[in-house]
This record gives sequence, structure tokens and C-alpha cells, in this order.
Amino acid sequence: MSDQKVYPVKPEFADSAWIDNDKYLQMYQQSVINPEGFWREQAMERIDWMRPFTKVRNVSFDDHNVDIRWFEDGATNMAYNCLDRHLETRGDQTAIIWEGDNPDESKNITYKELHEEVSRFANALRGQGIRRGDVVCIYMPMIPEAAVAMLACTRIGAIHSVVFGGFSPEALAGRIEDSNTKLVITSDEGVRAGRTVALKANVDEALTNPAIKSLEKVIVVKRTGADVAWHPHRDVWYHDLVALASPNCPAEAMDSEDPLFILYTSGSTGKPKGVVHTTGGYMVWASITHQYVFDYHDGDVYWCTADVGWITGHTYLIYGPLLNGGITLISEGVPNYPSINRWCQIVDKHQVNILYTAPTAIRSLMAEGTAAVEGTSRSSLRLLGSVGEPINPEAWDWYNKTIGEDNCPIVDTWWQTETGGIMITPLPGATALKPGSATRPFFGVQPAIVDNSGMILDGATEGNLVMVDSWPGQSRSVFGDHDRFVQTYFSTFRGMYFTGDGARRDEDGYYWITGRVDDVINVSGHRMGTAEVESALVAHPKVAEAAVVGYPHDIKGQGIYVYVTLNTGEEASDDLVQELRKWVRTEIGPVATPDLIQITPGLPKTRSGKIMRRILRKIAANEHDALGDVSTLADPSVVDSLIENRKNR
Ligand code: PRX
Repeated sequence: MSDQKVYPVKPEFADSAWIDNDKYLQMYQQSVINPEGFWREQAMERIDWMRPFTKVRNVSFDDHNVDIRWFEDGATNMAYNCLDRHLETRGDQTAIIWEGDNPDESKNITYKELHEEVSRFANALRGQGIRRGDVVCIYMPMIPEAAVAMLACTRIGAIHSVVFGGFSPEALAGRIEDSNTKLVITSDEGVRAGRTVALKANVDEALTNPAIKSLEKVIVVKRTGADVAWHPHRDVWYHDLVALASPNCPAEAMDSEDPLFILYTSGSTGKPKGVVHTTGGYMVWASITHQYVFDYHDGDVYWCTADVGWITGHTYLIYGPLLNGGITLISEGVPNYPSINRWCQIVDKHQVNILYTAPTAIRSLMAEGTAAVEGTSRSSLRLLGSVGEPINPEAWDWYNKTIGEDNCPIVDTWWQTETGGIMITPLPGATALKPGSATRPFFGVQPAIVDNSGMILDGATEGNLVMVDSWPGQSRSVFGDHDRFVQTYFSTFRGMYFTGDGARRDEDGYYWITGRVDDVINVSGHRMGTAEVESALVAHPKVAEAAVVGYPHDIKGQGIYVYVTLNTGEEASDDLVQELRKWVRTEIGPVATPDLIQITPGLPKTRSGKIMRRILRKIAANEHDALGDVSTLADPSVVDSLIENRKNR
């Protein structure tokens, strides 16, 4: 890649940055040579401990006994560290800027106000019977109460499980059941792009699922004031509870390894898994990565566009910025409502310094040319970030030139729900940028590239991306199923954490993520298991078999391509295609809506009956000349008819 364009660090940026290149190299060395010393110092500096820890780490990646502990004999509290300890120095400083879907609606919430609201609501949760260790599900739109709910849970040691508001009642029910949720926090409706989303009605529908046994209460925030069905023994208004609750609520001293939250994510097999993050290590990781990756300085206005329903919304919308005493902007709406330049208007309105978003959003704005920036100056911007999927060089250039006016470094941050926070990333004052590369490992991160037999490959190479040692923000387990955690992440390559991603390392030691190497696809930065979409499809009475693959999509990165065969006697039709599309939306949610559905008489299978996805991926990608070996197919003629059908689209 010698023709690869390199963007050196601008000296004026390095001068005022927390970390320049020399410091990066020195700290990185220290973090891997003496992790105990490095993390002891970071954890002491960044976090107020209610009981100091003596042990820094206690980790085994051995697949007979995967056990990951950080700061295990210490005790602390997330809400205390995000709020209480800032009161003296920055009680009147803004903690949250909220920007409504409607441009006329916005408000600022100070640390003092947030502390009081969280304390009241934490007491209210206790009043509803919630205790340390109970699971509380948060199914909310992007309103400040979502942050209040998360922080209130952590204050009393309840484990939150945030479910993205775009998921269907069916998907919500599965998560409530799996986690033994005791209480759901929701709102009457959400608002996006001028339209309402019936969140409370979705909760009502989810709770009709007879498999749910644990649920006791539903707390409802009034967002739109719409009429909602009410179950008097179960449903309670948020505002009624908060008005009555005391603002004094001492924070619970949580053991460092007590679960902090569960977040469901898709894998290559089975139902979504409840990824478990614990308290102390996650806090250290959220704080250090947020400060250094975004070069966050006091007073910076920082905007992460992710929804609270995803890990980015946990670590970089709420916890990282608040742990660091920052100002975080929460935006309720979408990038192009009411006009295509809305996001840039928000940047100007609130004088945003740091913007962190996803390539899919960048591409959707880019598709409109310069309309997205029209009438805006964006002169407050100092740094841009990208997350969730590989950023293609065209989108990188547009982000750099059109949004950032060539003035802002771009941090392309690679990480996962399971990693808790950013793992491979430029540091803006330290790292020369190459568009499309997530560049170098963060402190304490030890990536390696292995071949399919698990052999570590040196130098410039390509293969499977693994981590050879632990970092404080690492997930500890899958909720209720530690074996699945071990199987999924530690059994493919012995003694290593397997990311599920492929990567290339170039001659400068920069990492380039090449995408998933398993049956997971990434649609608009949303991670989805193809198996999940397939099982939704085969639940349809007319469908016999389904195979789902990703294919290149201009805006979404990957689109969802569905192949289905029908039960005997069923006829293919446009109506049925529409029906199947709607079916998947209802089963999983709009994020899983298939882009293309091909009804076919047969699927390519080996003689032993295994569907050959490799071939289906190639056909979906229109790479018909690169199908590879088809000689093991039971009936090779199936392929010709699939290709013919694909060409007609
Ligand atoms: O394939 C990688 C891709 O997103 C996956 C993780 O998805 P999720 O757990 O939903 O977390 C998304 C937000 C952190 C990864 O396995 N991915 C994430 N960031 C990048 C990326 N691929 C390339 N470049 C990135 N910067």
C-alpha cells in the first residue's frame, strides 16, 4: 500500500493534545510490559474507590477455565463517579445538552440537576422493590431520562439491560425473558423524524408473552402525552415517582466485579447473547479511552450520535464523558430531519467540538452532496470520530473535507460490544492517519493476527484478529451461560480472545479491519446474526428454508440478502416478498428489514446437505465469475438459476 495517502499529525494539534507520538510509544510499552503498574496507576487516578483494591488483575484465557477479574477486591460505584464527585468542582456546569427531534426543543442539564434527578429516581426504583443485583430493562427513546435511568440503576447496584427502541415487541420479550428482568422503564412514545414510535404499546405486547415470569413493574416516562393503555397494578408514571422520592440516595458500594450491565448482541449462532460488563474495569476503560481517543479537555462539547441501545451509547454517550466530567450532547432525532443539514446545524447551535458517528450516517449525508453542510460553519469542530464498520476512503475523504474542512483529525475506532470500549484507534495528537485504517492498538491492547490453525503471524500479514491478553473493559461472561462465552470467544483459538473479525496489518504495524469472518453481518453499523434473520423467516408458514447473507450496499455498508425456498404448493409472488419483508420487521425490528429477497426453487447444498453460503455471498455480491469450486454441490444447476435471477434485479 505504498500509494496509500498518509495524513501526518498536525503539530498544532499535537502541541495541545494529551498524548503525542513519543508519549504514545512510551505509555504503550509500559502498558504491555508492566500492565499491573500501568493499570494500578490509571485506576487510582481516574476512579474514586469506596474500598481500595490491592489486586490489579487475575486473568485466565485457558478455555477450561476462562476467568477475568480486574481490581477484584476493590469497591466503587458508577453513578458516584459520574456525578457526586464532580459536584464540588462543576456542579453548575452542563453535563447533558439535550437536543429534541424538533429543532425548537432543547435543554441543558447541570451536574447538580442530574445528580438530584438520578438520586430521586434511584430511590423510586428502590421503592418499587428493586435491589442490588436485580435486572432492570430500559426501552427508551433518546431523552435525558434514559441517562437518568441507567445512572439510577448503577447507583443502587441494579443491572441494566438497555434494549434498542427500534426492536420489536418480540425481540424485547426475548431479552426480558432471558435476563429475568424485574422492571421495565419505557416512555409513552418516542419521537423520530416527526413521527412517533409506540414504545409503551410495544412493552404491553412484549409482556403478553407467557414465558415472561419475572416481570413486576413498568415505569413510564411521559414524552408525548399520548393516550396509552394502563395496567394499574403494574404500570407507574415516572413523574409521579420522582416527585415523591427523596433526593438523598447514598450510592451503593459495588464490588469491582459485580455486573454493571447486560447488553444483548448478535452472534453467528443462536439467540442474541447478553454480554456482561462489570463495574471497576469497565469504568477505568471508559474513562481512559474517552479522554485520550477524543483528546477530551475540560469544557469541550462532545457529541456521540449513537443510540443508548448500543454499546457506543453506553460507553461514549453516557459513561465515558460523565466519568470525565464532560459535556455530552444527546440528540433525539435523525440526521436528515427536518432538513438534510440538521446535524451540522446542531454542531453550530451547541458549538460542538468533537463529533463521533458511524460511516453509514456519513454516507447518507454524502449522498446529498454539499446540502448537508449548507448554511453552517462547523468552525467549532476540532475532532471527528468514526465507529461501527469499516469506513470506505470516499466517505473518509468527505467527512474530512466537507464536514471537517480539512481541519479535524479523524479517529477511526475499532471495537465491539464485548470489548467495552475502543481497542484499535488513532490517538489524534500521536497517530498519522491512513483513511480506512483503525491504525494502532490502544494502551494495554495486545492484538495479534492468526491463521486458521491459530498460528500467530508476524509482520505485514492478513488473517483472524485476536487479543492475546486481557484489558480492563473486557466482557466477563454471557448472562446465564458462561459456557457460551467460552465457546464463542475462547475455543476457536486456544488461549486467545477471538474477535470474529478479519484484519490486515501493514508494514507500519497499522491494522485494517477487513470485516467479519463469521456469519455476522453489519448493516448500517448494526450487528446482526444471519442465523437470527433465518430463524425469523423459517417461522413463516409458507417458508421451507432460508439463507441470509450480506452484500455490498452503498449507504448501509452491507445490505441483507435473503434466499428462501417455499413449502410445496406455495407460489412465489411480489405480495409474498412484501409479506416476508414485513414479517421480519415484526419478528426482529426495522433494523433487520431484508433489502433483497429472492424466492428460489432450491439452495446450493453439498451432498451432505450443508448450504454453501460462500456461493450465496458471491451471487449476492454479483461476483458471478468468482464462485470458486462448485464441484461438491449436490445439484450444480441450482447455481445457474440463482445467478439468472440475481441478474434480473
Ligand atoms: O466487525 C467489527 C465492526 O463492528 C463489530 C462490532 O459490532 P458491535 O458489537 O455492534 O459494536 C459496534 C460499536 C463498537 C466489529 O466486530 N466494527 C466496529 N468498529 C469498526 C468495525 N469495523 C471496522 N472498523 C471499525 N472502526
